[in-house]
Amino acid sequence: MKHFTSVHDVQDVAALVDEVLQLKQSPYAHKSLGQDKTLGLIFLNPSLRTRLSTQKAGMNLGMNVMVMNLDKEGWALETQEGVIMNGTTVEHIKEAAAVMGQYCDIIGLRSFPKLQDREEDYSEDLLNKFIQYAKVPVVSLESATRHPLQSLADLVTIKEQKVSGKKPKVVLSWAPHIKPIPQCVANSFAEWMQQADVELVIANPEGYDLSEEFTQGAQVLHNQNEALEGADFVYVKNWSSYENYGQVLTDGEGWMITNEKLALTNNAKVMHCLPVRRGLELSHEVLDGPNSLVIEQANNRLYAAQAVLKRMLEGNN
Ligand code: CP
Repeated sequence: MKHFTSVHDVQDVAALVDEVLQLKQSPYAHKSLGQDKTLGLIFLNPSLRTRLSTQKAGMNLGMNVMVMNLDKEGWALETQEGVIMNGTTVEHIKEAAAVMGQYCDIIGLRSFPKLQDREEDYSEDLLNKFIQYAKVPVVSLESATRHPLQSLADLVTIKEQKVSGKKPKVVLSWAPHIKPIPQCVANSFAEWMQQADVELVIANPEGYDLSEEFTQGAQVLHNQNEALEGADFVYVKNWSSYENYGQVLTDGEGWMITNEKLALTNNAKVMHCLPVRRGLELSHEVLDGPNSLVIEQANNRLYAAQAVLKRMLEGNN
């Protein structure tokens, strides 16, 4: 695998999911693969799960791992071509990424969208330039439009939990939040579910439809109760508006997933990528109840990252 930035970098998604599950059984089976190899994890935004799971994944494969919070510990990055750097930016991505690429065999990069200019965010300019100048395999640790390691872990979690022989109904349900949140997790989840043997339904208020680039004809309902009927999995996530880019259009009253909402489903398992706003996105009773998969989902982040790093070390897709 040269780079891992979306589901499109994976030749056989089902085989990758199986490999994640194998690694979960034997996480130290490939300890010598990463010997004398260095993984650099670069963060421009906060992280708990992605940082620790990917760091551990590298260590499970025998890699040396370096982590840098570039937003706080590095020089302010310039990304525009040909600009006179007489402002606040100190180092151009051309030099910064090239230097980091010399120190690392694989680089992970987390960079959220600014949510101000849709065209700029959806061009994935920073991630693409980083790939261009680092010249080593790059893993997205969440970019402006996608969170592929999260989506792989989500798909693994659904495979582990689904009733065999039944195509599960999976509902991606928008949830309330107090501030504008990127569309990345929702985009990516929709994109990965298109590659899986599931029925995907997306529920969101009017004005929150995701880009069709990611939903690709999935059923989109603006009535959450209708969407929840018969669901086997409910994936809860807030996102800001794509149409009115980056805006919060409603306080989302009535959209929090509660036990009353769950009663409409087929005793659905409940997923969330975390961090979650308790009592706002999801009720305490659901998060603390038997249907919540959020902790196991986060556990699977480790093995998802490990499978991707393993394939990069092996040079496989
Ligand atoms: N789900 C997820 O990516 O969590 P972090 O932001 O804590 O890494």
